[in-house]
Amino acid sequence: MASKPSKPKPLTSSFILFLIALLVFTTYYLRQLHGDFQTYPKPSTNYPGWYDVVSRRVGREWFNIALVNMDDDEAAALETKGRVVKVEMGPLDEGLRWSDLFPEWINESSTKTRCPELPMPEFGRYEELDVVVARVPCSECEGSGWRDVARLHVNLVVANLLVRSGRVGGGRPVFAVFVGCCGPMWEIFRCDDLVLRVGDSWIYRPQLRRIKQLVQLPVGSCQVSPPLAHSGSELRGAEAYATVLHSSEAYVCGAIALAQSILQTNTTKDLILLADDHVSPQSIHGLRSAGWKIKRIRRIRSPQSRKNSYNEWNYSKLRLWQLLDYDKVMFIDADLIVTRSLDHFFTYPQISAAPNNKEIFNSGLMLLEPSLCTFRTLMRRRWLVRSYNGGDQGFLNEMFPWWHRLPKRINHLKFFRSDGDYEHRIAEDAYALHYLGLKPWMCYKDYDCNWDKAATRRFASDSANERWWRVYDGMPEKLRRFCALTPEADARIRNNRVKAKRAKFGDGHWRIKVNDPRQIHLS
Ligand SMILES: *[C@@H]1O[C@H](CO)[C@@H](O)[C@H](O)[C@H]1NC(C)=O
Ligand SMILES: *[C@@H]1O[C@H](CO)[C@@H](O)[C@H](O)[C@H]1NC(C)=O
Ligand SMILES: *[C@@H]1O[C@H](CO)[C@@H](O)[C@H](O)[C@H]1NC(C)=O
Repeated sequence: MASKPSKPKPLTSSFILFLIALLVFTTYYLRQLHGDFQTYPKPSTNYPGWYDVVSRRVGREWFNIALVNMDDDEAAALETKGRVVKVEMGPLDEGLRWSDLFPEWINESSTKTRCPELPMPEFGRYEELDVVVARVPCSECEGSGWRDVARLHVNLVVANLLVRSGRVGGGRPVFAVFVGCCGPMWEIFRCDDLVLRVGDSWIYRPQLRRIKQLVQLPVGSCQVSPPLAHSGSELRGAEAYATVLHSSEAYVCGAIALAQSILQTNTTKDLILLADDHVSPQSIHGLRSAGWKIKRIRRIRSPQSRKNSYNEWNYSKLRLWQLLDYDKVMFIDADLIVTRSLDHFFTYPQISAAPNNKEIFNSGLMLLEPSLCTFRTLMRRRWLVRSYNGGDQGFLNEMFPWWHRLPKRINHLKFFRSDGDYEHRIAEDAYALHYLGLKPWMCYKDYDCNWDKAATRRFASDSANERWWRVYDGMPEKLRRFCALTPEADARIRNNRVKAKRAKFGDGHWRIKVNDPRQIHLS
């Protein structure tokens, strides 16, 4: 029996139609998703892809182009498109290392401390520019390896050319194009100012006032940043102090004391506290009474820390970049107190901080500028970029290797190298004290219990302890309750005192008769 020619079933044809529709939709959707990052159609001529984008925005087909670190071929391709100048950058000292720009120690009290000079072009020869195009040297597209003097040099040359283009006061826009897979340094050219990425070219329209401020700062942490009269942004917006609590209630008392200490300086800034859901409603109530405005967050895991390690959730700090109501935020860890007004430091840009060791800053107190694209970039890169300690400090230092040095006393680390010194006095001129080691509220009021253990005595300081308890004494009773001593903490202190006595520690703090009333009223 011959089979009948099979007619296409109506179901099949509508299924094919559906597939086509799905394909069209998906293609469209994916293009939308790529948004700014879509590859621009390749031009038919040999001039570079960014030209049409910039031309449209400048509003002319012929404009002034400066080339930094580019070949003659690349200059020739642009000759019919505008007045092209090749910028003479000046020779970079081959021996200059990142550690020369970011030394571990500098003499902060000396006025003679100077950064090495990076050669700059003769700016007078390159004025009235519409666009500066630079090839950025880069050893690696994605990972780290960003502490690169040659890369910084090119970025700073571009920044200086833009600032001196005569357009800072507004008026005609000026653009920067960076050629190369790693793009510009985002510490200088914010991701917010990215107009479009065309293949390997990154087109920026930078905010010149911001860039102007950055080029006035020293080229590295080799000098303390000089006082700045103005904040770099076009409009001075809202500013806030902020701290973060996550994973436990251990620092609730610390955050309360911090707020109280900031308020005692008569600040004009907001106080914002980010808290995850491990902080109880009662604590939130206390924190609010202490002066914080509360924002609830979901904590963020550090991808490289071990489970249950002390810094497993420290990447929660990244949420600070989501505080989009603020132009600038000064983050302060909950184990600090402020002893002198820090308000005037808000003029400094992201990231300004005090030094830690080697070439890195201490992330316990830092100025940052909230931005959604910065936040997203940090969230994306946290999977790729290695953190030396698995914590946020290591990560942020890899992400912002070009940071600005504030004086040590803005974040005075309670840390003493000297053996045999039983005084451990803190500096009188400190702006904020950072309580490393056992926290004051985990000790007795009478003395710093870091003295009682060999492992923590380098953090011990009675004068710092006394300063913290002064803030406590100024707090209303209902806030002091959050600093009660737990029976476990009390038992730990007693145990350490017994051991210190047996070992006959020379500082003799174990002899002190304890009067702290918290000892009697354990929580
Ligand atoms: C730092 O500089 C000051 C002022 O010039 C000087 O008195 C002091 O000795 C210097 N300190 C060190 C450790 O070099
Ligand atoms: C804050 O203001 C109060 C009341 O005006 C004043 O008594 C106090 O001295 C001020 N504190 C500081 C640190 O300026
Ligand atoms: C991480 O957070 C914990 C608890 O909040 C804190 O004790 C620790 O010092 C932080 N670690 C780093 C590296 O910042």
